[in-house]
Amino acid sequence: MTRKILVTSALPYANGPIHLGHLVEYIQTDIWVRFQRLQGNECYYVCADDAHGTPVMLKAREQGITPEELIERFAAEHQADFAAFLVQFDNYYTTHSAENRYFSTLIYERLRAAGHIERREITQAYDPQMHMFLPDRYIKGTCPRCRAADQYGDNCEVCGASYSPGELMDPVSVISGARPIERASEHFFFRLQDFETMLREWADPTHIQEEVANKLKEWFEEGLKSWDISRDAPYFGFEIPDAPNKYFYVWLDAPIGYMASFKNFCDREGLDFGAYWDRNSEAELYHFIGKDIVYFHALFWPAMLEGAGLRKPTRLFTHGFLTINGQKMSKSRGTFITAHTYLQHLNPECLRYYFAAKLASGVDDLDLNLEDFAQRVNADLVGKLVNIASRCAGFIEKRFAGRLSETLAAPALYRKFTAQGARIADLYEQREYSRVVREVMALADEANQYIDEQKPWLLAKQAGQDDQVQMICTMGINLFRLLMAYLKPILPRMAGDAEAFLNRPARDWDDASRPLLDHTVNPFTPLITRIDRANVERVLDQSQETLAQGASSG
Ligand code: MSP
Ligand code: ZN
Repeated sequence: MTRKILVTSALPYANGPIHLGHLVEYIQTDIWVRFQRLQGNECYYVCADDAHGTPVMLKAREQGITPEELIERFAAEHQADFAAFLVQFDNYYTTHSAENRYFSTLIYERLRAAGHIERREITQAYDPQMHMFLPDRYIKGTCPRCRAADQYGDNCEVCGASYSPGELMDPVSVISGARPIERASEHFFFRLQDFETMLREWADPTHIQEEVANKLKEWFEEGLKSWDISRDAPYFGFEIPDAPNKYFYVWLDAPIGYMASFKNFCDREGLDFGAYWDRNSEAELYHFIGKDIVYFHALFWPAMLEGAGLRKPTRLFTHGFLTINGQKMSKSRGTFITAHTYLQHLNPECLRYYFAAKLASGVDDLDLNLEDFAQRVNADLVGKLVNIASRCAGFIEKRFAGRLSETLAAPALYRKFTAQGARIADLYEQREYSRVVREVMALADEANQYIDEQKPWLLAKQAGQDDQVQMICTMGINLFRLLMAYLKPILPRMAGDAEAFLNRPARDWDDASRPLLDHTVNPFTPLITRIDRANVERVLDQSQETLAQGASSG
């Protein structure tokens, strides 16, 4: 049965570049989506830039442009990066859109009508010079506990104390340098606690991973509180209906951006939006997210959907964080690597492969060790996988004019390889990509071993062994074809190039289970080149330089 599936990745903020940490998520999602499509499922993948909020507003101001101009620049840059990494969205939109305004308003009004919105006055730090309220990260001062200078408004990086901005000594606004004052204003709150029963029930292992379920249990224990969903002007976002100068907080309209992007896609493609979002929808809805944004997706988002009479996600797929050489990405170590910098020196599919080789279905962090990266990609893709084809293709091309034999030399071995297809498919479905890679590489070892044993290069020197040479090399090429097909969700471009060499496009997962025989292939060209360590060094050097430039331009 064809499944109807809608998949999202979290919406990257529109005030910074895409970096390798982000790419863990987009590559993880893209592999899953490509796999679903190869299975013949109807699977759509949408995303958008997360355009609203104070940082976007201030950055635009700093650059002397409008927020709209700023988000347009980043939208173009983000999409170019994603395309280069072969992340294939059906739609990439922005949260600053008419559709998103419509749905944000609609959902808010439904929540309000059902009594889930309350208003209350709160007191906050205010910058009297800039005439704006200050989010905690825009206030700095001296830690009230250890007296360390230059600490952020919510916690001290030196002694680890957390406090409210009001407790900071000698506080200053990061924006103007002025001393913040306390000021009251009315805010709008979403009553999350109204949904506790539903959320406790929803938060089971059918909807979230076990580790995430445990985290949620802690949050339930602490008690659910109403959520501040409004911000005062000046703010870059959507104005709240009937509340002049009050705006929706960026995190209110961000997840609604998933719907808005899909709506924009449906309108363009003539698809039925309601079939995916109505309360009784039978379509599957999956959100891939990082572990830092679970609260928003596992509590606020299902509660908002429930309160607005819409369907809830089928599952959340939460992943861990990327570290580089065992540490958090760091600008000063040169490991804050942007997608753009990577692309100038290295092949995007190498990163897709390496991430896949490290990704499992849990929320563990994963490490990009740059030594291991080069070594692993060279050993697996060049040394094992492509080697199978390159050892066989020359004979087929030169001695048999590209013609494959009419029968297989070792049908039992071929059947052994095709028999793994269902298991590998299951591992993809479960997001156990590291096991996919392990299985496929074990098969690649067997294929190479077969060629080692058959020694076509020796037979080729003997008289009367032509048929044997052709059959052995045909066998090798067919095993290579199968393994490439298994890796196609991870290495779509390489798989496409392999299909061009094989002179036979693959439409779905099962295509390669029937061997290519009595068929003419094209001349072989190398499908990938080794990673040169010097290029890895260049990426690191350039990441340091980018930092230095960033610092000098303030
Ligand atoms: N704008 C919000 C998401 C809104 S979704 C309705 C946001 N943006 S983000 O740009 O900070 O992050 C986008 C995604 O990338 C998040 O899922 C986040 O967890 C993920 N990652 C960002 N840095 C990461 C790593 N270093 N490692 C792995 N994933 C990381 O959050
Ligand atoms: Zn301190």
